[in-house]
Amino acid sequence: MAERITNFDDWKDLFYKWQKDIGFDPELVKDYKFDAIYDEGTSPTIEFGEFKGRKKFEKILDMPTQDMRDSLLHLIFYQGDTEFGSSEQQRKLIDSAPSDYDRQCLIRVMREEQRHGWQMCHVLISNFGDSGKLEARKQLERHAYDNSRLLGAFNKNVDDFIDFLTYTCFIDRDGKYQLTMLHHSSFAPLSRSMGPMLKEEAFHLFTGQTGLSRIVRAGKVPIPLLQKYLNKWLSTGYDLFGKDRSSAAARFYRWGFKGRFDEATATEPPQDLDRLNEEARLLYYKEDCEIIEGLNRLIPEGRPKLRAPDMKFNRQIGDYADKMFSVEGKPLSEAEYKKHLEEVLPGPADRKVLEPIFKAGDWMSAGAANA
Ligand SMILES: [Fe+2]
Ligand SMILES: [Fe+2]
Repeated sequence: MAERITNFDDWKDLFYKWQKDIGFDPELVKDYKFDAIYDEGTSPTIEFGEFKGRKKFEKILDMPTQDMRDSLLHLIFYQGDTEFGSSEQQRKLIDSAPSDYDRQCLIRVMREEQRHGWQMCHVLISNFGDSGKLEARKQLERHAYDNSRLLGAFNKNVDDFIDFLTYTCFIDRDGKYQLTMLHHSSFAPLSRSMGPMLKEEAFHLFTGQTGLSRIVRAGKVPIPLLQKYLNKWLSTGYDLFGKDRSSAAARFYRWGFKGRFDEATATEPPQDLDRLNEEARLLYYKEDCEIIEGLNRLIPEGRPKLRAPDMKFNRQIGDYADKMFSVEGKPLSEAEYKKHLEEVLPGPADRKVLEPIFKAGDWMSAGAANA
């Protein structure tokens, strides 16, 4: 059982201990200062929902009900949990980066995710009294590698550098959606946290997207094999938007905590508050398809192309959770499905194929400038 924490400095001690526990060498980021960063946020007044037009909540006691405070606490510690989870998932990849440039990108992504977790814990500890301190501590006690992160996506294995790049391209893209939706929050400290986090997130997406482009350009990793990574991580990304019908998402919207991804440009209020998750997931899916289109343009004529798996495939959350659909969206029998999963998700046989490719060292085209 970890020690009680009374203030943010106590929490920092736990954070540095956590870095060591997960095997992240603090020397890798010795010139970087972890800090909570706030900007001015999006607007001084609440932008949508029941309290629209009122001054944003600066303190949780400005909110009229305990129910609201509890839900907000929940929303923030779920976000924080994903940030620490991702660093745990990526912790073993430092030595497998294909170049020094890629290693630096990985280290930057990891330290920024750690800062995002730090930021969420700063919001928790500064605003939520004892329950905030308890939740901030628990962020560092759950671990991806013992399957105790709150969302399944953040307990999955990130086994190699292709996993990392597919993850930053598509799971960090979910992150961009979540942060954008929280950017307009009626809780001012949360809204003011999101601008700096989103700026950092943009680099993660860049790392993933250019990384996948560089793999395709180099032409060494077979496209059908790369497709398996897309099948794994896009289906995981679909899940991250939550249930198709969600009364929690509706409440978050009504209370102004979490807006729509396109809240800033939307001209109409939402048609159906219970379907906000589904709408966000659809926007995410469309954006994924555009990214994949861009990758396909790099594949020479007559070669297999990449595609986004059907939104029904491999789902653990929502209407299609635990249903058996193929990557093309075809219903399958139990036996067919079991076989299908072995064929379309990365497995031990694929790792064997990749081993010599990784060893040869030229499986990604050159970094940043011409990515
Ligand atoms: Fe993040
Ligand atoms: Fe990220």
